[in-house]
Amino acid sequence: MSEIIIDPKRRVELPATMEGKTVLIAGAAGFVPSNVAEFYLKLGAKVIGLDNFITGSRINVTLLSKYEKFEFHECNVYESLPDFSNTKIDYILSLASPASPIDFAKIPLEIMRVNSEGTMKLLELAKEKGARFLEASTSEVYGDPEIHPQKEDYVGHVNPIGPRSCYDEAKRFAEAMTMSYHRKYGVDTRIIRIFNTYGPRMRPNDGRVIPNFINQALKNEDLTVYGDGTQTRSFCFVSDLVNAIHNVLFSFDPTPFNIGNPDEYTVIDTARFIIDALGSKSKIVHLPLPKDDPKRRRPVLDKLQAISDYKPQVSFKDGIEKTAKYFQEHGMDY
Ligand SMILES: NC(=O)c1ccc[n+]([C@@H]2O[C@H](COP(=O)([O-])OP(=O)(O)OC[C@H]3O[C@@H](n4cnc5c(N)ncnc54)[C@H](O)[C@@H]3O)[C@@H](O)[C@H]2O)c1
Repeated sequence: MSEIIIDPKRRVELPATMEGKTVLIAGAAGFVPSNVAEFYLKLGAKVIGLDNFITGSRINVTLLSKYEKFEFHECNVYESLPDFSNTKIDYILSLASPASPIDFAKIPLEIMRVNSEGTMKLLELAKEKGARFLEASTSEVYGDPEIHPQKEDYVGHVNPIGPRSCYDEAKRFAEAMTMSYHRKYGVDTRIIRIFNTYGPRMRPNDGRVIPNFINQALKNEDLTVYGDGTQTRSFCFVSDLVNAIHNVLFSFDPTPFNIGNPDEYTVIDTARFIIDALGSKSKIVHLPLPKDDPKRRRPVLDKLQAISDYKPQVSFKDGIEKTAKYFQEHGMDY
């Protein structure tokens, strides 16, 4: 089958309601996926969540279970999916994957398998059901970028054998697989490249920079900055990211979209900002920079913004305060 050109220039058409629609979310116990799940439940959809809890939290499933139209299956998506032969599914969101650098050394093969075999199982299901499929890729596909800021047509600078390669290359493979199902079988696919996102429902100990700093600041412990801290990151609050995901899902373009927040901070300024915002007594200490740590990261959002009204709404200060409040309410040691 030849490639379907949908219509990349056509404006996003957001549905007023998702009543009567079923959205399957792989990774529903996780940080971003559970926020996406709640968003679609609030819009009236039935949401089917899948997760094996490798990095997800049962707290998130309990929270989602308050919604009548939430159904959950504990399963490993690269092993086998539940029997959906009698279930109508309209949208499949492939969001299951560990995403924290601390997981790269601990569970590299699980990361590679979920983004390859897991993605393929979900694409097969989308093909069978005629469902629209969305793959969560990452800014890591750009590696340690030689071009700044990053636009979607930059093909990246990834070390294929470095300590981050299990994640970066697996996501590149997931993108290739998604485009191949689109081209060969005409599956209606979308790809998002998520830049650093933070917010409530992240694990405080998950090793990523914002939860690390908030956790350390709330305990008045030293904030650990890798290298001299001049490397930059752009941080997106999760509700803004969910909004971006929704816009891409209802776009008409199967090629990748950057999503995130383009405000760029050095890591050292981020640490200072969080100490200040939370009134902490913490100091900053420096640790060696990990291998292949990207020096600069900032998304160009022009592609999505040309076809939608997407604009991040939550300020960094508000986002940090909301996340800190969540950690204080839910405990900081998981
Ligand atoms: N948060 C970010 O900044 C960010 C950035 C780029 C990309 N992403 C992508 O977004 C998605 C969600 O990331 P997150 O930050 O919410 O991570 P997360 O770890 O909180 O969520 C991922 C969920 O997937 C589940 N999972 C992993 N392997 C599975 C398997 N084999 N079977 C079933 N469930 C499995 C985990 O248990 C977890 O609940 C991932 O695909 C990630 O790569 C996130």
